[in-house]
Amino acid sequence: MNTQIIELPCEADYRKAAECLRNSGLVAFPTETVYGLGGNALDPSAARRIYAAKGRPSDNPLIIHLAYAEEAEKYCETSQMFYRLAMAFMPGPLTVILKKKSIIPDEVTGGLDTVAVRVPSHPVAHRLLEVCDFPIAAPSANISGKPSPTCLHHVKEDMDGKIEMILGGGQCSIGVESTIVKIDGEELSLLRPGAITVEMLAPFCKCVSVDPALERPLVGDEHPLAPGMKYKHYAPKAEVVLLDGADEQLFSFFKEVSGKEDIGILCPASMFSLLSGENTISLGGNLAEEARVLFGCLREYDRRENVKTIYAPLPSKEGIGLAVYNRLIKAAGFTVLKLK
Ligand code: TXA
Ligand code: MG
Repeated sequence: MNTQIIELPCEADYRKAAECLRNSGLVAFPTETVYGLGGNALDPSAARRIYAAKGRPSDNPLIIHLAYAEEAEKYCETSQMFYRLAMAFMPGPLTVILKKKSIIPDEVTGGLDTVAVRVPSHPVAHRLLEVCDFPIAAPSANISGKPSPTCLHHVKEDMDGKIEMILGGGQCSIGVESTIVKIDGEELSLLRPGAITVEMLAPFCKCVSVDPALERPLVGDEHPLAPGMKYKHYAPKAEVVLLDGADEQLFSFFKEVSGKEDIGILCPASMFSLLSGENTISLGGNLAEEARVLFGCLREYDRRENVKTIYAPLPSKEGIGLAVYNRLIKAAGFTVLKLK
């Protein structure tokens, strides 16, 4: 298939993309979190094509994207708590799980009676949704198991030749996928950490409980609240090892291994400037920057065939740090080395 790639869409391109989606076609588009692989959320055959293009198991439900939070009424059972969250965080990087109405096909929700709803703020995503008269189901636009795409180039790598269109819109400003919450009366469960942090959600509810699956391996018959969180995600080809230790311990560890050509070091900007080694990459100077560049760094290591092990400090769990922590600890298969 010939994939049409439009770096900066104009009005005619949005209309063309909407027409394509209406005819069961697939269109990738940018959001403020990561790029999405969109299909008409009311069309079961589009959902089946999304799973095929990603190579994703069809029991892993999709998020439906809306231009405006008020449209949620048409597709799911809303509540006061939903509107409280919507007023505060939509449009933006928050996804809320609600009971679905029958208009949403089972193919989209992997057979669940709930559906994930999100209102993206990226102008390209927003305009595309406005032009469509249906919601857009969109998982991240990566091949299943690869880091989510945060720029047009990543989407091309994974989707060129498999879908009808790719819309561009620059580098994603957040860089990790949306925060996912489930509402239970006045309480919230955090199913996936993102840029809307536990600290930001807390004032709007009685309590926020964090799904244990986000921070540690599950045991026995435990399963994560978001089906997708059980799959091995975000894993680069090299082995990732997280290091737990004070800054001085981390720095001397990095200094010792940084010359080896099969070792990658993913470190804070402050240490990067003091280290050598061609496979040393800076994660940035603050938590938001770490989130923004993380997936691009993991993809970069995949290009460097000689790198067999990547070392990175165990991230902070504060604010958006919890999202970086969750993605990295999964990439590491929960391997943490305690420095002594
Ligand atoms: O930032 C984002 O959310 C991006 C952009 C494109 O919007 N989308 C995204 O979609 O990350 P995806 O499909 O890669 O991740 C969706 C996650 C999966 O872990 C899935 O299991 C969970 O949401 N999910 C979807 N529907 C659910 C439901 N009804 N109940 C529980 N978890 C659900
Ligand atoms: Mg994904």
